Amino acid sequence: MSPPRPWEAIDFKLQPAQYMQAVLQSAITDNDPIQWQLGKHPVNGWVHAPWMAQDRDPFNGLTFERQSLKFELHPNQTQGHTNYAVGIYNAIAARAFAKMWADPADPSTVDFAMEPGAVAVKLLFSTAPDAEVPYLKGSISVDVCDDHVQRKARLAQVDIAVRDTDANSLTGWLFGTFIYSSDTATTFSWSDVHPFTLQWGNDKDVWPTGLHIPPDAFPATAAALPALSESWYDPFYRDRLWAWRVSKGVTPWTGLFGRSNGPIDNPVSSCLSCHNTAADFGHGSDELPFTRPAPAWVAEVLAGTAPRPELKSYFETRGADVPILQGTLALDYSLQAMKGILNFRAWAKCRGDNVQGDIAPYTGPKPKDLVAGSQECERFLQASGDVFADTLAPPPDDNSVMSSEAPPGDLMDDLVFGGRDTQLPMDQRSARE
Ligand code: HEC
Repeated sequence: MSPPRPWEAIDFKLQPAQYMQAVLQSAITDNDPIQWQLGKHPVNGWVHAPWMAQDRDPFNGLTFERQSLKFELHPNQTQGHTNYAVGIYNAIAARAFAKMWADPADPSTVDFAMEPGAVAVKLLFSTAPDAEVPYLKGSISVDVCDDHVQRKARLAQVDIAVRDTDANSLTGWLFGTFIYSSDTATTFSWSDVHPFTLQWGNDKDVWPTGLHIPPDAFPATAAALPALSESWYDPFYRDRLWAWRVSKGVTPWTGLFGRSNGPIDNPVSSCLSCHNTAADFGHGSDELPFTRPAPAWVAEVLAGTAPRPELKSYFETRGADVPILQGTLALDYSLQAMKGILNFRAWAKCRGDNVQGDIAPYTGPKPKDLVAGSQECERFLQASGDVFADTLAPPPDDNSVMSSEAPPGDLMDDLVFGGRDTQLPMDQRSARE
């Protein structure tokens, strides 16, 4: 039976914050009681994406995220801080993974698609201390292995992605982010996690020609940017961050020219544009065969030049089944699906196993291929840990859980964590309850 999807009764353009809250609430209702320890409680239907072991931190399986540069989070920041995250999928989304990995030794990426109602939620944790980012007070913390040192990272941002037929005229997806903000809390409360932005399109034709922003002299308010019609921001949190960043000469928008993105994200990008690059390129390497927008491309636009075609292409509106590079297979906005497939293909390659699944017929320039026996491969296999033991595919105890009928639950967790401790110790939780 499908879980209830109360957000579908809410018009996301008219009530974006309420829509976002309803989506997040579904994840909280299911995962708060089990302290988000999916590996220990696989029955609620939420899963981790498989084959991401080598991208995860060894303590709790968090992925390494973009660093928050000095002043991006707050004017008191004296240095950059690392971020870590964990993304999970609901039972509807899990069905797409179950289909992809029905044969764990021969993944199928043709027609990878999530059904309406699919939701992904990603918790992002920052290592920034109170003295530098005061509004993280009281947030949940998790232990991370940060540059070989054990540190606490606190929940700073929560991302959601929702497959909703009401968004079909553009991409079929809504991406949104919440930020944690409290200057006084001593214990964590979800009421301090505030809707920040929601995006249903890239506003592909909106380019601020004529802004002519000289270096480090950004407009005082977001009103200087052209209006966008395919995303929403909470004005209070956007304007606060904008003023802080401008006071320090840091790019004030979180997504390119005001498109949706979180404070932790790369300001030359946006949620949908980055996620739309999710594809199976059919090669075994952890490098991608295309370039993400470079700050220099944006500087050109700010200086008055028309955006170059690569930049426009990155912010194009593409359906979920249209890949960024012709001849590759789109993976429906799921970058965890993309990482998993890249890792699988790299693993097969490094082991000298010629198991490539549905190799995408991509014939364009490819990045450096991995060569079995090379140092790169040795490092890769070592980083892969238990998941990549001697046999080609870790044989599941019960193959039936990998059918497209049932969410793959515990098997997914086994594939992801390979027997590692999957605890996510949210150590302030007990104080709160
Ligand atoms: C520059 C690229 C980039 C941008 C911008 C970006 N993401 Fe992601 N996101 C990733 C990558 C890579 C992953 C997969 C690895 C991981 O989970 O950390 C990911 C994972 C996720 C996941 C887990 C499910 C999935 O699709 O893999 C969610 C949900 C998510 N992002 C939401 C968002 C939202 C919401 C925004 C905007 C506020 C956003 N992302 C902006 C790169 C990006």
